[in-house]
Amino acid sequence: MTKDKVLIFDTTLRDGEQSPGATMTHAEKLEIAELLDDMGVDIIEAGFPIASEGDFNAVREIAKRAKRATICGLARANYKDIDRCWEAVKHASSPRIHTFIGTSPLHRAIPNLDMDQMAERIHDTVTHARNLCDNVQWSPMDATRTEWDYLCRVVEIAIKAGASTINIPDTVGYTAPAESADLIKRLIATVPGADSVIFATHCHNDLGMATANSLAAVIGGARQIECTVNGLGERAGNTALEEVVMALKIRGDIMPFETGIDTRKIMNISRRVATVSGFAVQFNKAIVGKNAFAHESGIHQDGMLKNAETFEIMRPEDVGLSGTSLPLGKHSGRAALRAKLAELGFDLADNQLNDVFVRFKDLADRKKEVFDDDLMALVYQNDSGEDRIKLKSLRVICGTEGPQQADMVLDIDGTDVKTSATGDGPVDATFNAVKALFPHGARLQLYQVQAVTEGTDAQATVMVRLDEDGRIATGQSADTDTVVASAKAYINALNRLLVRRAHSQPGYDTKGVSYKDS
Ligand code: KIV
Ligand code: ZN
Repeated sequence: MTKDKVLIFDTTLRDGEQSPGATMTHAEKLEIAELLDDMGVDIIEAGFPIASEGDFNAVREIAKRAKRATICGLARANYKDIDRCWEAVKHASSPRIHTFIGTSPLHRAIPNLDMDQMAERIHDTVTHARNLCDNVQWSPMDATRTEWDYLCRVVEIAIKAGASTINIPDTVGYTAPAESADLIKRLIATVPGADSVIFATHCHNDLGMATANSLAAVIGGARQIECTVNGLGERAGNTALEEVVMALKIRGDIMPFETGIDTRKIMNISRRVATVSGFAVQFNKAIVGKNAFAHESGIHQDGMLKNAETFEIMRPEDVGLSGTSLPLGKHSGRAALRAKLAELGFDLADNQLNDVFVRFKDLADRKKEVFDDDLMALVYQNDSGEDRIKLKSLRVICGTEGPQQADMVLDIDGTDVKTSATGDGPVDATFNAVKALFPHGARLQLYQVQAVTEGTDAQATVMVRLDEDGRIATGQSADTDTVVASAKAYINALNRLLVRRAHSQPGYDTKGVSYKDS
């Protein structure tokens, strides 16, 4: 079956960057544009050149550097905007001017233009843009709340004035799939000259239907989808690039359209956009969320281990991920536990596995996610099942007058030992106290503090990673006192390191002491 091509128009750098707080630096915009170009986006809307000097410079630089994509800039329906836009995009080997005006009754009221005056403005501005650039896109903003007869009239004017792409924006995310398809069909069927242009769809996500509305518009005859990476955009955002592209790829049987996007580049660009925009991707976001390829429930994990197609409609590799993740938690079953232990190098007999499984369930009830280190500790748990090192008490002196000091009591193998240590700050003093009481050569590789709740009494979660000759152990703890959480996380990592030592060196027993030397 031959498939019609659908052009992907990415507006992450224009509509996406308009999200409050998502401002990107010049260098970041160039980087994202390069990634978009490289992944096969057909048109990049690089910015709104009249909006600021920074926007102008970014669009101009992106235009100069683009290798494959058409570079587009946005302009309101006036000559000054259009001229400025042309100055920025003209450097591209394939430039486009995108000019727009709000056509719905609410938007016509703002410049106080009646229907005829607005029609004349559209004619004049599109003609002006077309005199500068061969490739002009025109958008009636708030098209889905514009009277359909009037919309047909102004679309005809824009086509006659030389626009080659007519974009139909659902500016406030108001339409629904059936209506979105009908509107495009109606325009194509009734507007003279409609067959000589490309209709585009531009949907916002206020009712969570942006992707569905965009795909419906394509079914109705649109051949350009406007979208942003991660669905970034004002309010609830825009149609997400990764969603439409993967939907068209996977459901080619009912939507026989193709895009030129290399889907294996999706995950990388998604992560970069999240980082530079400061808009983290929600865990359960389609395609690019942390959980999109993660399966925790026992039934799902069991199915996945037998045949990934049972619970995945696309392969993680198709979007640039290295594989499925089977995080272990309280819903996980024996099959997933066995698979994870095998991955960690343990081949347990059935009765051993049952044993570990009971301890694992008990731990999983108390912890959100069970990490590799937890599992290792479960497998190697000594008879009492207890950690060798425990924090009995900690008192810290800190403030502007140094040196900071930690007075600590630890229980090591059942014996209380105590010390006072100083350091460069309360956490350093605390870690020095642990080292004095339990000397070791492990290096601190990571120390990370995160507030889990709001307010000054927030629980702090601390993560500590230790490295001893390539053996890595991670410890975690939470407390309303950050220094106490830090001490516990450090001791937790140290206990795990002892377990790791025992596992990796046959000369060590489970207490981490070399019996060969004794
Ligand atoms: O949502 C919208 O209407 C827009 C236009 C400028 C195309 O972003
Ligand atoms: Zn928009």
